[in-house]
Amino acid sequence: MKGIKNIGILILSSACLQLSAQDAKMNTYVSNLMSRMTLEEKIGQLNLVTPGGGVATGAVVSQGVEDNIRKGLVGGLFGIYGPEKVRKAQDLAVKNSRLHIPLIFGLDVIHGHKTMFPIPLGLSCTWDTALIEKSARIAATEASADGLNWAFSPMVDIARDPRWGRISEGGGEDPYLGSLIAKAMVRGYQGNDLTKNNTIMACVKHFALYGAAEAGREYNTVDMSRIQMYQYYLPPYKAAVDAGVGSVMSSFNVVDGIPATANKWLLTDLLRKQWGFKGFVVSDYTSVNEMTAHGMGDLQTVSALALKAGLDMDMVGEGFLTTLKKSLSEGKITQANIDAACRRILEAKYKLGLFDDPYRYITEDRPAKEIMTDETRAAAREIASHSFVLLKNKNQVLPLKKSGTIALIGPLANNKRNMLGTWTIAGDFNKSVTIMEGIKNVASGITIKYAKGANITDDTTFAKHVNALGVEVETDAHTPQELLNEAVATANQSDVVVAVLGEAADMAGESSSRSDISLPESQQNLLKALVKTGKPVVLVLFNGRPLTLPWENANVPAILDVWFGGTEAGNAIADVLFGNYNPSGKLTTTFPQSVGQIPLYYNHKNTGRPYEENGPTKFKSDYLDISNDPVYPFGYGLSYTTFSYSDIHLNKSTIKPSETLSISTTVTNTGNYDGEETAQLYIQDVAASVTQPVKELKKFQKVFLHKGESKEVTFTLNVNDLKFYNSDLKMIYEPGQFNVFVGGNSRDVKQASFSLTAH
Ligand code: BGC
Repeated sequence: MKGIKNIGILILSSACLQLSAQDAKMNTYVSNLMSRMTLEEKIGQLNLVTPGGGVATGAVVSQGVEDNIRKGLVGGLFGIYGPEKVRKAQDLAVKNSRLHIPLIFGLDVIHGHKTMFPIPLGLSCTWDTALIEKSARIAATEASADGLNWAFSPMVDIARDPRWGRISEGGGEDPYLGSLIAKAMVRGYQGNDLTKNNTIMACVKHFALYGAAEAGREYNTVDMSRIQMYQYYLPPYKAAVDAGVGSVMSSFNVVDGIPATANKWLLTDLLRKQWGFKGFVVSDYTSVNEMTAHGMGDLQTVSALALKAGLDMDMVGEGFLTTLKKSLSEGKITQANIDAACRRILEAKYKLGLFDDPYRYITEDRPAKEIMTDETRAAAREIASHSFVLLKNKNQVLPLKKSGTIALIGPLANNKRNMLGTWTIAGDFNKSVTIMEGIKNVASGITIKYAKGANITDDTTFAKHVNALGVEVETDAHTPQELLNEAVATANQSDVVVAVLGEAADMAGESSSRSDISLPESQQNLLKALVKTGKPVVLVLFNGRPLTLPWENANVPAILDVWFGGTEAGNAIADVLFGNYNPSGKLTTTFPQSVGQIPLYYNHKNTGRPYEENGPTKFKSDYLDISNDPVYPFGYGLSYTTFSYSDIHLNKSTIKPSETLSISTTVTNTGNYDGEETAQLYIQDVAASVTQPVKELKKFQKVFLHKGESKEVTFTLNVNDLKFYNSDLKMIYEPGQFNVFVGGNSRDVKQASFSLTAH
């Protein structure tokens, strides 16, 4: 035993030695290079520009890019991709600038590069970190084949407000699941060797708390207690840092009254000193300049503030480029501030292997071999099918038979333009598979009768806003009534109706907040008319956020939430509709009944006057006009089969802090199909010095069960799972009683209790 231990220590310490030797080599290299750099060239490294060609998410697109690259005034470029274009830009830097420093090339690779996967919110509903990692791995391979070495992903902002359009870009409302996803994404992009030509640097964003924008309004103020930050909002960013993420993007919002982009507590004290982050921090798109509008001062002032706070790279705004020299001469910043930032950018380039070979990621024949292959498409189909959440299936309307006549109705049923969802810079919607095509591929024996039935919306002002970056909402030449009549007639000639409704791609995503998150009226009218025909109706729902669906839940027999499923969505949806894949997705975000309930999330606190079931009750925490319940809770999702959970068995009723607790339950497949269940474990710390939520997810396990099969699922908890942040922001445990819950969602659970002793 002893010998084995010693070998372990030897291996470990030689690995550490090796690491530090590598670091020392990098330091020497970078120091040598910096000793030859002028002040202007150092500031140039802090400048990230976009020559356009992608989607500009702010008002400005960089000017004079080529000239600035030649002068050594650009550190990185984003918004272009493809080996030819990237090579041209890299040539300018490597062949024409004085010190030949290579550029870093970034892009918003968010849910795939060209083979698009489900939007991140959909991906999170797989609860499958291996699949999520696989999607990021494929994205990295494709992006690097296209000349890129830096992805502005993962976005890990916890969000509890579905009005906020960017809820679609993250992993939902839970910090534990969000942290696992953050790690999986970083692993997928970066692999275990950043110098490989198929791994790219990840950039965790938006640091921090962006998802808590007041009223769900984009770019809005955030105000939050430190305990709330530490316990619920910061863990996923921290998880990405722990996984070795190479870069961090600051957020647009304020944190404690100071914009994140110039928040020294956030970028230096927390990120670097407490968490030990070693990479570089980039601003969000012109977020340095935007601090003037926040009320922090003119461009020179805010640029100096940002640099001193720990921001290293300025995205697009050129505040650093144009003011830092002056600030240095006026003593407002120090040479050490500039050097520190410059060093971090050069280190990133070193870690990517760009000094060894600036053309490492630029190989002209890679795209044809590595992008959009049969394998990447098959993976996209598999992953998409796992992301769909079956919200309702009364009378087992689903799965559909592969015979008879289907009325395929709705503005999204045969619509390539809206298949991919938000953030698809390099993704080509023309290469996506529609539901119509998917059904033909999967169930060739059926007859499809198609009718559009409605416009996505008839509200032309709203449509105009949604169409800001391209026409996603088309207004049909036929009147709404004509469309509706045709759809009803089509439904009447069919055995079953598949209504494909929901949001257009850009109804969610950046700058896409909505105050009303129901289906647009045009589509509600259509759905009501279809249900009235008496035919069984399956609602296939496209959405980048939770929608308010109380009427739909009460009146439509079957609802399948497919988010925006990516390139292969049509095939994957057909796989699920016809039972080739039994749906297994579970919600990672709560679906409220009404916007008035927002924020509504499962891990809320109890209040002193808790809501009573079947309320409202006078003087309780509730509403006069509505219950507190969501339509669909966190963790919820049905299957074509059913699962039952036995009572929970604990191996002990009391544990010491040094001990572990085993919690077992037997899950049985009680229905008629084989299927996969995600068993979830939640805890509640019943009495603590800081009030704790009614439930917190601590573990989950995916279990595949043949029909009729039972399996025992065992979870293990230790004292770390029972800790929380106290008023001094220390992670502690406190002895006392805990409730533990296990079930297939956060609402329908079996419960038991145990105690933790002090010692
Ligand atoms: C977004 C970021 C994105 C950046 C670059 C910003 O508007 O907030 O998420 O990475 O643009 O496109």
